[in-house]
Amino acid sequence: MNKVRIGVLASGSGSNFGAIATQAQSPDYPGEIAVLICNQAQAHAQERARQFGIPVHLIPNRDYGHREDHDRAVVAALQAHRVELVVMAGWMRIATPVLLAAYPDRILNIHPSLLPSFRGMHAIQQALDYGVKISGCTVHIVRLEVDSGPILAQAAVPVYPTDTVTSLQQRIQSEEHRLYPEAIAQYIQSRMAEVPTPTNVAIPATLDRQ
Ligand code: GRF
Repeated sequence: MNKVRIGVLASGSGSNFGAIATQAQSPDYPGEIAVLICNQAQAHAQERARQFGIPVHLIPNRDYGHREDHDRAVVAALQAHRVELVVMAGWMRIATPVLLAAYPDRILNIHPSLLPSFRGMHAIQQALDYGVKISGCTVHIVRLEVDSGPILAQAAVPVYPTDTVTSLQQRIQSEEHRLYPEAIAQYIQSRMAEVPTPTNVAIPATLDRQ
């Protein structure tokens, strides 16, 4: 089987990265992780990648004045590893048109809420503040607007009156670790043939320094 080359972008612990890397070890899984890109020097995801023998690129965003310049470095690293599908797994950066143009409809993200509810950084706290009784996680295609874009998969979890951000986050993350590898595999098998190949898409010069 010709496996799709996946590039994972992560900023933190990398538990989702670990879940995907574990599934990707199976000969039947349709993708393989070609590279992990981190923007934070202390991101634990890097240790996990080394354990799996997956190459790591550290590209600290603070080394770049403009978000587009950072994304340009990220795209260069992805292209150097011949990445065909980009998977954000706790990537604490907002994608710029530079990244989106290089991988149109080929960037996935997981978010800890049932989108379109509770977009942004504090989704779990907001869910608790609203008193929702059901929350969960969503895998979606990345678009310019944060946590928007077509939904590929969702999983729901109950919210209990005694929940804290930590307890709800743990319950959601257990679902994420099951859902994300599955949704990625499904996307590769059913949707990827319809979207343009990254090598056919040039990064528009007009996007420079926006
Ligand atoms: C996940 O909960 C995901 O929903 C959010 O960031 C978190 C990353 O966790 N986008 P980890 O680094 O995969 O452990």
